[in-house]
Amino acid sequence: MSKIAIVGTGYVGLTAGACFAHLGHQVICYDIDKEKIDKLSNGQIPIVEKGLETLVKEGLEENKLSFTSIPEEAVSECEVIFLCVPTPQRSDGTTDISMVDSAVSSIAQILPENSILVNKSTVPVGSAKKVIEGLNRPDIEVVSNPEFLREGTAVDDFLKPERIIIGSKNPDAAQIVAELYKKIEAPLLITDPISAETIKYTANAFLVTKLSFINSIAAVCEGVGADITDVIKGIGSDSRIGEKYMRPGPGWGGSCFPKDTKSLIHMAGQAGYNFRFLDTAVAVNEEQFDRVVQKIRTAVGGELEGKIVAVWGLTFKAGTDDLRDSPSLAVIKRLHEEGAAVTAHDPTVGQHKEGIPEQVTISKEPLEACENANAVVLLTDWKEYETIGPDDVTDRLADLNLIDTRNVFNPKEWEDKGFTYQGIGR
Ligand SMILES: NC(=O)c1ccc[n+]([C@@H]2O[C@H](COP(=O)([O-])OP(=O)(O)OC[C@H]3O[C@@H](n4cnc5c(N)ncnc54)[C@H](O)[C@@H]3O)[C@@H](O)[C@H]2O)c1
Repeated sequence: MSKIAIVGTGYVGLTAGACFAHLGHQVICYDIDKEKIDKLSNGQIPIVEKGLETLVKEGLEENKLSFTSIPEEAVSECEVIFLCVPTPQRSDGTTDISMVDSAVSSIAQILPENSILVNKSTVPVGSAKKVIEGLNRPDIEVVSNPEFLREGTAVDDFLKPERIIIGSKNPDAAQIVAELYKKIEAPLLITDPISAETIKYTANAFLVTKLSFINSIAAVCEGVGADITDVIKGIGSDSRIGEKYMRPGPGWGGSCFPKDTKSLIHMAGQAGYNFRFLDTAVAVNEEQFDRVVQKIRTAVGGELEGKIVAVWGLTFKAGTDDLRDSPSLAVIKRLHEEGAAVTAHDPTVGQHKEGIPEQVTISKEPLEACENANAVVLLTDWKEYETIGPDDVTDRLADLNLIDTRNVFNPKEWEDKGFTYQGIGR
């Protein structure tokens, strides 16, 4: 079993750390956020992620997992050090790797001799080379090991991945990193760092393309009177196509898809290729937010000014508390721009927090959010909304309008009770 350090204890770093400890390794997680580290040291999880708290507690109890805000404590005795720091988007669409640079410079001189630095952050293609230059430590191997976990199912995705990608030009270093995953049964691809970095961007670009594609087909379905659910079933049974990631919705978002897509478009441009295809996937997505607002506008009579809209769900998907680039917030922004008032509920949002506009009124209960609203819009498919029926909200709403952007409700059940129902592509 190996001694592993994790640098950056967020959605990826904490999951990786807790899972590596669960696999039997000795793991120490480091973060510059001292408050987060103090909480974690006491077994308190700062994020919502199924199964993670159990693993963190298990790791702490078995002395396999520890937390620190002191870099020396984290890395000085480790053989493998994972970088899991954020790589956000700059305003011009390029990737800001300053946090990678600063994490690398904070540990460059204290990394043990001949240790391996593994980059799990999603970084622009060619970054491994830049990290090597920044380190200026010829004894250290830099390996790329992109992460594919999804928030909401992060623990499962980490422990049962569909593949493990390791990018290194040094077969010994690649083998040491591969050994860390020995207990996990998954196809392993060892490649060069540039290809490993490209695989991560390609995967996300393909997924957003699928989502934009199916949202476009949903728009066609609405126009011609077809039912998207059956269309998906019909095409999905073709093994060349499949049903996965073919669910229409309010548009895609989250902490990775938007920034990684923009980053790939930019990288392609730098490499001399105009990636028009991905430009269109992004444009279709922006259009999807507009289409959702159009549905709400139509429901309330053509004018949003002065109307009250109840929103169910603020996070970018169910199962996470992550609000970064949430489609729900993109829709809310547009509603505010047109003069509507928004009352919102989300199971992970008890009060205002960073990212949610001040004007949004936060409700503690989904039904409470509907009070006097002219329409209710489901934007995140939290399971608890599925059990709400028309009788639960009729007396609270000012007008009986439901916009179901995740197609979770039965239209007939709501229409029979006098509601105007609008889904996506049905
Ligand atoms: N979130 C996902 O679903 C996901 C999936 C795959 C890949 N990724 C990639 O993984 C990386 C991390 O994403 P995340 O969502 O876990 O980020 P996050 O914001 O949840 O966590 C990052 C952590 O790094 C810490 N940090 C920042 N600078 C640091 C430094 N210099 N030293 C130590 N700690 C530092 C922050 O305090 C924070 O706790 C990104 O590159 C992202 O694109 C994310």
